[in-house]
Amino acid sequence: MVRTRFCDVFGVAYPIVQGGMQWVGRAELTSAVANAGGLGFLTALTQPTPEDLAKEIARCREMTDRPFGVNLTILPSINPPPYAEYRDVIVESGVPVVETAGFNPAEHLPAFRAGGVKVLHKCTSVRHAVKAQELGVDGISIDGFECAGHPGEDDIPGLVLIPAAAEKITIPMIASGGFGDARGLVAALALGADGINMGTRFLATAEAPVHDNVKRQLVANTERDTELIFRPLRNTARVASNSVSREVVGILDRGGKFEDVRDLVAGARGRKVFEEGDLDLGIWSAGMVQGIITDVPTVAELIERIVTEARELIAGRLAGVLR
Ligand SMILES: Cc1cc2nc3c(=O)[nH]c(=O)nc-3n(C[C@H](O)[C@H](O)[C@H](O)COP(=O)(O)O)c2cc1C
Repeated sequence: MVRTRFCDVFGVAYPIVQGGMQWVGRAELTSAVANAGGLGFLTALTQPTPEDLAKEIARCREMTDRPFGVNLTILPSINPPPYAEYRDVIVESGVPVVETAGFNPAEHLPAFRAGGVKVLHKCTSVRHAVKAQELGVDGISIDGFECAGHPGEDDIPGLVLIPAAAEKITIPMIASGGFGDARGLVAALALGADGINMGTRFLATAEAPVHDNVKRQLVANTERDTELIFRPLRNTARVASNSVSREVVGILDRGGKFEDVRDLVAGARGRKVFEEGDLDLGIWSAGMVQGIITDVPTVAELIERIVTEARELIAGRLAGVLR
């Protein structure tokens, strides 16, 4: 067993989390993670309406009797989705945990607390982690510069970010960004975290509801095959390198405005990449961890492998240096 206080607080067998993933965090993947003893999150905004989220939660319940959660990503937007309605569905559906991300979750915490929903807040800096801890969340997911999606603007990789956060965080904390195997889990524990969160690695599993071309590309790609888009707009996102992401970087580097790339980065185009498997149709998130992804296992195989190899690594290689 590899067990930490994270498992006790969040009611799972292993300290391994599947973070929210737009268009990917659906019942197929999340239930597979739950059934394998990890903590999976459905992605609220993948569902077009709060009513659809309620149906997806019900569908996931039919596929597992283990606990799972819902990710609520709060991002600045001209036409924001009805966050409060999605939140209320999460509370009313009785899921035990929510992963909040993107913005300070303060506004939503009273409702989660009243409904008995534990909050795992994902953030990319020590100061935001400290703030969330002060607000009373139940756990922190600290997301380093390596990560897919939004790494923030500080560019602090996990090797420094995780121990720096561990100095200040007293509640359970998991490390995120760049994790994909047992070596990462053991390193995270050594750096002061209570477990790991993974996105890209779970995208390359049999149950991830995306086209096989995407999974094959994750295996083929190296750690160098990502782009940081929206840097000049201070809303950086790490995505897979392709003709579209490279064009977006070029336009913005030459002084272009968001309007100049709006069509290229449209969410509908990224969704099509996952559905149709044409890898150059739009923007899709992937992290540097692509460099250590060499296969497409089932979720159960992946989690079992990480746990088994972590135990061997700790009891073997690490114990072996104590002489
Ligand atoms: C395809 C994809 C979509 C993602 N969408 C979201 C999202 O909607 N909300 C969110 O909080 N994080 C999102 N993430 C980030 C993951 O939850 C996780 O924090 C990140 O992938 C960790 O880094 P890693 O990919 O190196 O494991 C996404 C990641 C991927 C790969």
